[in-house]
Amino acid sequence: MQGIKIVATGRALPQKVVTNNDLSRLVDTNDEWISTRTGIRQRYFCEEETCQSLAILAAERAVEKAEIDKQEIGLVIVATATGDHVFPSVACMVQNALGLEKEVLAFDLSAACSGFLYGLGVCHSVLLNQKKKYALLIGSEQMSRILDMKDRSTCVLFGDGAAAAVLTLEENEFYQKAWSDGNDETLSCKGVGFENQHISMEGSKVFKFAVKAIAQGIDEILEKTGKTTRDIDYVVCHQANERIIDHVSRKYKGVKFYKNMDRYANTSAASIPIALDEMYENGMLKDGMQIICVGFGAGFTWSSALLTI
Ligand code: ACO
Repeated sequence: MQGIKIVATGRALPQKVVTNNDLSRLVDTNDEWISTRTGIRQRYFCEEETCQSLAILAAERAVEKAEIDKQEIGLVIVATATGDHVFPSVACMVQNALGLEKEVLAFDLSAACSGFLYGLGVCHSVLLNQKKKYALLIGSEQMSRILDMKDRSTCVLFGDGAAAAVLTLEENEFYQKAWSDGNDETLSCKGVGFENQHISMEGSKVFKFAVKAIAQGIDEILEKTGKTTRDIDYVVCHQANERIIDHVSRKYKGVKFYKNMDRYANTSAASIPIALDEMYENGMLKDGMQIICVGFGAGFTWSSALLTI
């Protein structure tokens, strides 16, 4: 089948590292509480950078590594919930900053932490129907903009960052599925015009949703592709919380789950592409490998994909 191939990836992080101890000077928390409950030890917070500048830098790095004619990019999607402005979109700014021709479909995609995987499905559909060869899919978030730094139950969980992937079609095995269920109570950030413009979350309900969503995402792929866990080289989940991933991984003995939330915390739509970029950089992803990615987040949205490397 005509599946998706990742040609290259790139990531961009703000300069400022914020450790758990740094946060303990702002709110009543400590490294022990945060690291044992979440696996998070540090995160990056923007100072000079923005969602847009991180997206542009990550995109430039991915395109440079891909060694392609960038005018062959016909689609730019930025998965984000924290774009600099209501409009114009971050994607349009990326198109301009990279000097891409104007004949390009550029838009932001809002699916919270599932955004990168939702975007993967959209890229696949559009690539099948457009003349240009490549799509640029970016996850970029400035979560620090929507955190209440007085709320210790949420402000310790998130970080800022971006990563991009240059995608094209290739004859390989690819499968993607997405879900949505319209929950606006458990995890939300209501935004402009509302009293509380910060993230609010019922942690234990999100935990239960996430565990179910990951398992459903993995099972869907195994069932629809006729694979077993032995065929899967890695599972790369949205990096919300180590305990969520450890909980699910007990069901899938022998499967390797990638984890990096200790260094980045939860970067929402950027977490899966940041993980993929690190894995490429560390030589963990080799041609022919098969990986499952699973995203889950506010909405609730969730999505899983089988990718052939
Ligand atoms: N430092 C110290 N104490 C804290 C902190 C903190 N940062 N945050 C909360 N506490 C306290 C609470 O006030 C509470 O104290 P109390 O018993 O005196 O009232 C105590 O710790 C226990 O609070 P709980 O909320 O019950 O803690 P829990 O063990 O459930 O862990 C957590 C909270 C880590 C948020 C957990 O519910 C969880 O992992 N949920 C998943 C949420 C998640 O990962 N969200 C990410 C965003 S969503 C997404 O990406 C899809």
